[in-house]
Amino acid sequence: MTTEKKLLDLRARKARSEAGGGKARVDAQHNRGKMTARERLEWLLDPDSFQEIDSLVEHRCRDFDMDKNVIPGDGVVTGHGTINGRQVFAFAQDFTVYGGSLGEMHGLKICKVLDMALKTGRPVIGLNDSGGARIQEGVASLGSYAEIFFRNVRASGVIPQISVIMGPCAGGAVYSPAITDFVIMVDKTAHMFITGPEVIKTVTNEEVTFEELGGASTHGSRSGVSHFTAGDDEEALELARNLVDLLPSNNLEKPPQKRTSDSIERLSEKIGEIVPSDPSKPYDVKDVISEVLDDGGFLEVQRDWAMNIVCGFGHLGGQTVGIVANQPKILAGCLDIDASDKAARFVRFCDAFNIPIITFEDVPGFLPGTSQEWGGIIRHGAKLLYAYSEATVPKLTVILRKAYGGAYDVMSSKHIRGDYNVAWPGAELAVMGAEGAVQIIHRNRIKGARDAEGERARLVRDYQEKFANPYKAASLGYLDDVIEPSKTREKLAKALHMLMDKEELRPERKHGNIPL
Ligand code: HXC
Repeated sequence: MTTEKKLLDLRARKARSEAGGGKARVDAQHNRGKMTARERLEWLLDPDSFQEIDSLVEHRCRDFDMDKNVIPGDGVVTGHGTINGRQVFAFAQDFTVYGGSLGEMHGLKICKVLDMALKTGRPVIGLNDSGGARIQEGVASLGSYAEIFFRNVRASGVIPQISVIMGPCAGGAVYSPAITDFVIMVDKTAHMFITGPEVIKTVTNEEVTFEELGGASTHGSRSGVSHFTAGDDEEALELARNLVDLLPSNNLEKPPQKRTSDSIERLSEKIGEIVPSDPSKPYDVKDVISEVLDDGGFLEVQRDWAMNIVCGFGHLGGQTVGIVANQPKILAGCLDIDASDKAARFVRFCDAFNIPIITFEDVPGFLPGTSQEWGGIIRHGAKLLYAYSEATVPKLTVILRKAYGGAYDVMSSKHIRGDYNVAWPGAELAVMGAEGAVQIIHRNRIKGARDAEGERARLVRDYQEKFANPYKAASLGYLDDVIEPSKTREKLAKALHMLMDKEELRPERKHGNIPL
């Protein structure tokens, strides 16, 4: 073969790989409102930055006439490129080739990308659109899945891993995204489930649609499996880009510094007015968060699930920070099972990737009730306590109003090694609210009083004066300061600056035993 013919042969092979499952299937993909795998990678990565690898890999299956149907690339496009100039690895399953199903070689291509991402310390982004295990390949397909899961676990806490679900993601296939740090789902086109509606009908006789069972809104608001919901493919890919921008490339780096013109000395006169002094009045803690962060920018994680706690990322003085905040307008900001799980995982992510954590606290305690107790709030609440205690990144806490009971201890208190703990002047740090406390410790005295109501009110006032303020805790050194609300941004930014080179060690061990 002449050199020219060899080149033509190479180009023809690449063209076969690029054509995927052919025009009809590409059209069907577009008609469903979905981009193709290659179009998605183009959107995700900087223009012309994508470098494909393994485009000539083929499956080795000889059963079910599969040897007559070989498409180079094997249904997944893999490689590397840049996001705003920073290197990332990515793979995109191609639904036009055997429904994006994962056979042996398809799976090993993903493994190669994960291995390279780990070796080079770069984030990895998976674009999932697949009918699951390739039925014709049987156990070889299951083997490749497990190879992926193992690598996801090995890379956990070393490089950021992001999964974008842009079509079906069924059966055991869900476990790779579940292990990764963030799951982004496209509304209406993405579905995740272990067993589909037909199997469920056979086994439990329940009737449920794909959407109800495992659509983006189900996993965004009921199960907590997904972290972000996007309106379409473009929005999902944009979200993945935004996340990468916030994060370090690996656990040995610090997050990138962002330029801002928002002065850290900017005072906020209105911040104090957001929080009502009456401890029973609700408000939106996100208003406090956006007053503090640079330019009010806040990327909320799991916005519609466990809404009684707010988690997300922003910048303070240009530095990426993770925010955890009780949300008094939902369940009065109580900690419950889901809120504990949500915040615990978020805190662990931040700690793994050197992202300082700022906690805004206004919490009346753990949510009472049999469903919480029987559901294991003890075990779940312990996760949050464990995560905060284990975290060695800078931990800054502002008590806005209530800090009652065990929740005071859990929410990044000084005692579990908060680095900078402050309160606003209206904060109340106590075992419980004054009404409840008086009812318990003075029950007999109130019963015996001639004017029971008057006596109760006097005792409540007395308790409030003693404990419903931050000064007892400040006098014990449990708070580093009591600050004026308007100066919250400045105080936090200066403390953060002071803490940037903090080092704190924990005893050497194989791993702790977090109550899962
Ligand atoms: C091989 C598959 C496939 C699969 C789909 N296809 N799923 N090929 N293995 N798992 C092929 C179809 O034959 C078809 O090929 C093309 O992909 C598109 O599929 P359609 O059914 O036409 O598309 P649609 O109507 O959109 O339905 C998509 C779907 C459905 C919902 C994903 O195909 C489906 O239910 N597939 C099976 C899902 C499943 O049970 N997977 C195994 C789960 S168990 P042609 O040639 O016609 O284009 C599992 C275990 C993993 O994954 C374990 C890990 C631990």
